[in-house]
Amino acid sequence: MEPAVRTHQLSRSFGRLRAVQGVDLEVPAGAVYGFLGPNGAGKTTTIRMLLGLLPPSAGRIEICGLDLARERRRVASLIGSMVETPGHYDHLSGRQNLAITAGLLGLPAAAIDRALDIVELAPESNRRVREYSLGMRQRLGVARAVLSRPRLLVLDEPTNGLDPRGVRDMRRLLQELPGRDGVSVLVSSHALADIDEIATHVGLMHEGRLVLQSSMQALRQRYRLGIEVETTRPREAAAVLRDAGIVASAEGGRLVVPTTDNALAPEDINALLVGHGIPVHGLAAGALRLESLFHAVTGGQADALAA
Ligand SMILES: Nc1ncnc2c1ncn2[C@@H]1O[C@H](COP(=O)(O)OP(=O)(O)O)[C@@H](O)[C@H]1O
Ligand SMILES: [Mg+2]
Repeated sequence: MEPAVRTHQLSRSFGRLRAVQGVDLEVPAGAVYGFLGPNGAGKTTTIRMLLGLLPPSAGRIEICGLDLARERRRVASLIGSMVETPGHYDHLSGRQNLAITAGLLGLPAAAIDRALDIVELAPESNRRVREYSLGMRQRLGVARAVLSRPRLLVLDEPTNGLDPRGVRDMRRLLQELPGRDGVSVLVSSHALADIDEIATHVGLMHEGRLVLQSSMQALRQRYRLGIEVETTRPREAAAVLRDAGIVASAEGGRLVVPTTDNALAPEDINALLVGHGIPVHGLAAGALRLESLFHAVTGGQADALAA
């Protein structure tokens, strides 16, 4: 099956600012794709282009195999979306809000029940939205986005501002959607931990570029371990390893080198560092946190991800 999203060298500038540069995104059908990156990385700009809300400066977009520029209307009918905090009519109930959208789209009442069911808001559906928590409002936004049974669901920062319970509910909802509804999901977040456990694929944006894109499975195979180096000069140590073509990052008072079981031996890293006059006080290999990997890939500049 063709991917839900494929972009070719997608770019967008605002005056001199290159907000998105040469991005080749690929969201496989049935994926939960975590679109990650710190604030200002270019996620929302990319998403607005995917939704046809913002014209690209260059590049092409295909949604479920259709060219967005040539088949706007058909593409629009395939996508459901929620961009940042959704607006609802506060004085109406959740159900009434959905009924308005369903009416506009010419959908039957059954579509409303189905959507409420998916986001587990059915018991609260007759309460006014004014009384909803932020998490419930976000889930109502997702309900609206899935009303028309889209092939692709695009959610921009749906966990932003939610309390831990809200984040947990949203995660469970996103995780269950592809199996339940056959929809592919592209979900952005600046908080890596909100998404990493549920994503089947991840893309990392950094300063307008897609610096990493992979299935979680491949990522976990490729970088199973992190070799941690204790040193008083972690930044210099990271620079030495990067010059040798090795991905590494300085974190706090340590250096972390993502690796597989056998790609890099701790003694080789030790020899390289000592050869450059960097003191090594300790070396240990342990399970790699995804934050460390992303930190390493972005050269330690994506600090917001570790939050
Ligand atoms: N309409 C706009 N006009 C000018 N600059 C913009 C506009 N939208 C976004 N930007 C800039 O583009 C960059 C990427 O922003 P954005 O896509 O919103 O990042 P993210 O969603 O990853 O936080 C930022 O530097 C932002 O200030
Ligand atoms: Mg954004």
